[in-house]
Amino acid sequence: MSSSVKIPNHIAFIMDGNGRWAQHQNKPRTFGHKKGVESLRNIVTYCQKIGVKHVSAYAFSTENWNRSKVEVSFLINLIFSQIEIEISNFMKNNVKVLVIGNRSTLSKTLQKSFDRLEAKTSQNDGIQLNLLFNYGSRNEIIHACQNYAQDFQKNPNLIMDESLFNDYLLTKTIPDPDIMIRTSGEQRLSNFLLWQLSYSELFFVDTLWPDFKNEHLDDVINQFNNRDRRFGGH
Ligand code: IPE
Ligand code: IPE
Ligand code: MG
Repeated sequence: MSSSVKIPNHIAFIMDGNGRWAQHQNKPRTFGHKKGVESLRNIVTYCQKIGVKHVSAYAFSTENWNRSKVEVSFLINLIFSQIEIEISNFMKNNVKVLVIGNRSTLSKTLQKSFDRLEAKTSQNDGIQLNLLFNYGSRNEIIHACQNYAQDFQKNPNLIMDESLFNDYLLTKTIPDPDIMIRTSGEQRLSNFLLWQLSYSELFFVDTLWPDFKNEHLDDVINQFNNRDRRFGGH
């Protein structure tokens, strides 16, 4: 990538197409999820190299519980085992990790694993990886409203505005994404960061997530550089 290219600060990914990728090779869908982890590892490394500061990755939605029991437990076991495997790489590569989503309904073991991952990597500052797990934007917004209502009862001077609302979101410490990329050709948000993506540049690419490589990201960043972000101005 040439040095004059503007590198986005925050890229958010809807990592879609793992199941189809596996099915195309007559393999079980779970095989695609395993391969998807490799894609994410590679993309985070590449993003760090080119100077991206935040990568957000949609790993499990609040709607993904509707999948078969086998697939759901595979995905839950996969994140658990990957955290154990990757934690030393995150330390070596200076990656800070945050897990964003509704944790209260997950097992205590998984909650502890998320806590440990975040605590251990909290001082790293090479790049921040936000893993969206058991995340749904509507759920996040409802919780924000509930928490605000409680605080308001205690303090009626607490006036709601955009900045205060942001503080009630799970992403409160994270800047809004500059770019959102969804792989696999689907053109929808599937309950991903509805508030936060208000002014992001959206890219829908046909490549399936396990096939998504550095050159696909280069292509998106080049297109991003040719877009005119007006934020409502002229
Ligand atoms: C995305 O791939 C990963 C998760 C949702 C966990 P999919 O599993 O949705 O793959 P497709 O869309 O069925 O191909
Ligand atoms: C969105 O993909 C969720 C994740 C990538 C984790 P889905 O495959 O679940 O979304 P839909 O069902 O196609 O909308
Ligand atoms: Mg999908």
